[in-house]
Amino acid sequence: MPRTITGIKPTGRPHLGNYLGMIRPALELARSDGAMFFVADYHGLTITPSAQEVRERVLDLAATLIAFGLDTERNTLYRQSDLPELCELTWILSCTTAKGLLNRAHAYKAATADNLAHGREADQGVNAGLFNYPVLMAADILAHRAEAVPVGRDQRQHVEIARDVAESFNRIYGPVLVVPEAVVDERVMTIPGLDGRKMSKSYGNQIPLSAGPDEIRRLVSRIVTDSRPPSEPKEPDTILALYRVVAAEADARDLERRYRTGGVGYAEAKALLAGAIERLLAPARRRHAELMADPQALKEVLARGAARARASAAPTVAAVRAATGLGWA
Ligand code: TRP
Repeated sequence: MPRTITGIKPTGRPHLGNYLGMIRPALELARSDGAMFFVADYHGLTITPSAQEVRERVLDLAATLIAFGLDTERNTLYRQSDLPELCELTWILSCTTAKGLLNRAHAYKAATADNLAHGREADQGVNAGLFNYPVLMAADILAHRAEAVPVGRDQRQHVEIARDVAESFNRIYGPVLVVPEAVVDERVMTIPGLDGRKMSKSYGNQIPLSAGPDEIRRLVSRIVTDSRPPSEPKEPDTILALYRVVAAEADARDLERRYRTGGVGYAEAKALLAGAIERLLAPARRRHAELMADPQALKEVLARGAARARASAAPTVAAVRAATGLGWA
């Protein structure tokens, strides 16, 4: 198995779209021993949340990953900022990375395009951290000589940038860095939110992973439907689309058939959907609550992960320093 690494930003309460689109596929791909996971709190700083929020979200995300099945003995789970050497690596790598490469990164381009579309200066409100984001991500990956990076489609370009970053460094200083590869699971669909658009915090259409049965029912009841009575055939809609990604395949096929033949009302379909989401989330919700009740234990898990991760990164950092003439040989 190739060495794999996955980072997840601790921004916002994790929701069902994050779980199905990113957390679950990453956990599945990382069944192998030695896969690394980290909570990307340095990356989260580009949106400058409060210190308290950062710490809370780090613990919450770590607990979420464990609750959904991350095995912290077989795999390594750590907090990114416990490896400050990543920032050193970021600086060194930024000196061999073309600025133009970063100009072309999607996240930065989207921010400047949005500014221009609203008649503002291109870089207004864009911090340099957002611009340098892909170099830090390259450091995350390259530090561990990771070969495979399981990511969603939206992060594929960042891994390609990490490849370019490694190749430019190696061209100048010799073959020091391992060139990684993105692993994108094409079967993972876009997870629809309550309004039918992609589930995303920025659209406010998400179902938080922490939602209890009542909140799930309340959120699902918000899905807008037409006024067809139960006996009338129905078009596939948001209820059915979400049901397809959370229910067993046979159940999804069954509901689809009942939609087509006019064998189900929207109220019943929503109840089925809420029930399926509840069954998917309930076991992890309990485990998550237990973990959050003992933050000290969770911090110890992260500290053990950090010790392993630092040991894993150390040879790369040493080789990069030696190759570039930093420190005495
Ligand atoms: N940029 C990723 C995201 O927003 C998070 C991330 C940071 C990451 N560093 C990484 C993912 C390294 C994979 C490998 O989702």
